[in-house]
Amino acid sequence: MAQIIGGVATTHVPSIGKAIAEQKQNDPYWKPFFRGFDYVHYWLAREKPDVAVVFSNDHGLNFFLDKMPTFAVGAASEYRNQDEGWGIPVSRSIAGDPALSWHIINNLVADEFDITTCQEMLVDHAVTIPMTLMWPGEKWTIPIVPISINTVQHPLPSLKRCLNLGRSVGRAISSYPQDLRVMIVGTGGLSHQLDGKRAGFINKTFDLMCMDKIVDSPEELAKISTHDLIREAGAQGLEFILWLAMRGCLNGKVKRLHQNYHIPISNTAAGTLLLENAA
Ligand code: DHB
Ligand code: FE
Repeated sequence: MAQIIGGVATTHVPSIGKAIAEQKQNDPYWKPFFRGFDYVHYWLAREKPDVAVVFSNDHGLNFFLDKMPTFAVGAASEYRNQDEGWGIPVSRSIAGDPALSWHIINNLVADEFDITTCQEMLVDHAVTIPMTLMWPGEKWTIPIVPISINTVQHPLPSLKRCLNLGRSVGRAISSYPQDLRVMIVGTGGLSHQLDGKRAGFINKTFDLMCMDKIVDSPEELAKISTHDLIREAGAQGLEFILWLAMRGCLNGKVKRLHQNYHIPISNTAAGTLLLENAA
């Protein structure tokens, strides 16, 4: 049977890609952020996952305002990135695992999550930046199942719905007959707002509360409304719902192995969290 070994949550700010391209990992501005991945690299080398299920949000590369699925699951054998206009290199393609994708899709629909199924899907910086952070030099060898959640356009899915979506994906993975070691990724956050009167808004107290409670009491966080989350974390801080979806998948004994919090990276409070999921 497949086994969920843990989850990684990380910010996905595009300028991280520029810093990598310019080899600025050890510059004073970047070092405290990049060092936060040393332990993640150690953990990946030790735990050797076979596949990653990645919760992220599309920022207009794949879905636009005219067609915006609340939840979309990739079922492709390959996911390509394209130039998004951020001035960062286009990443190499990431392999898919269509069999695992269809298993998750079938289970989600049976569980009454009416998701959109994507046999073709582009992935943007919300997938490629975390992949590059976890496997520097784009040296990833494992396939992914990307799951996209709308954080862009109202109406937005509630925190509770995203936690429950994760729980359903977790049950699906745990019933998958193949002996796979599955890791879960949630990207985005923490507090940030890119536009409007509150551009540059960051809320350290709220972020640290979220990083704390997500380990043992995600249900408490799931009671927060999307409007309150946007008020507390900024319009794009809403991306925390992707962390909650990741957390929902972890259905065993959950333990914090590592965390890093650094302000700011671009306009964002950069959080990195590694959770173990013991049977
Ligand atoms: C930034 C943060 C994001 O989450 C994003 O998708 C794009 C840009 C930023 O802080 O620059
Ligand atoms: Fe984003």
